[in-house]
Amino acid sequence: MDVLHISASPKGERSASRRIAESFIDEYSRQNPDDSIRELNVFDPLPPAFGRVESIRKFAPFFGEAPSEEGEAAWKTILTVIEDFDQADKIILSSPMWNYSIPWALKLYLDNIMQPRITFGYDPTTMEHRGLLRNRPLQLILTRSSTAPGHFVDFQLPYLRFVFDAMGIRDTRVIVADQTTKPSVEDREAYLALFDDRARSAASEF
Ligand SMILES: Cc1cc2nc3c(=O)[nH]c(=O)nc-3n(C[C@H](O)[C@H](O)[C@H](O)COP(=O)(O)O)c2cc1C
Repeated sequence: MDVLHISASPKGERSASRRIAESFIDEYSRQNPDDSIRELNVFDPLPPAFGRVESIRKFAPFFGEAPSEEGEAAWKTILTVIEDFDQADKIILSSPMWNYSIPWALKLYLDNIMQPRITFGYDPTTMEHRGLLRNRPLQLILTRSSTAPGHFVDFQLPYLRFVFDAMGIRDTRVIVADQTTKPSVEDREAYLALFDDRARSAASEF
């Protein structure tokens, strides 16, 4: 099995979401020693830029336009990002909440992989997206300082659930640590330790 860990915090060793993901991965590797687990941190290196050329190329087929040469070159790069993602049999996504949503580098990664006719389709009668990727397990490991899951300003968890579902990845499991900001190292560590068991038991079911 190819297990892809997409990590979306730029904080490395200081990251709370990555720390919980490490507990999950430790247990998963212990139980599945033959699986390969690779980490893709979306801040380093950043995903390919998605700007003028890419957004014009994205809609060229729908506007009946021939793609430009630079558009085609950009598209090739995007297809390699999608291939790398789609190769994974299981996906772990660890991410902090940033301003009620996701960090910009993770959004940039999603802007690369969310592509019509490649990762999702559109049903013109029901006006709904249809996933074109195969379903597979997705473990979300999310952290925040204070925004409770289910609160109406939580645009992190519902958004992530929706975008992966739109691509066909619906076997989604969730761990949310929502009070990660504590005044001392000891308090922060004690709080995160509460999620170790949760992460390990989630890993056993993954
Ligand atoms: C730019 C930025 C924006 C943040 N926005 C929110 C927020 O909207 N709600 C919240 O509860 N916490 C917010 N936080 C706190 C982080 O989500 C929290 O510290 C999280 O545990 C960090 O995870 P990490 O250590 O894996 O990066 C924000 C932190 C940063 C750096």
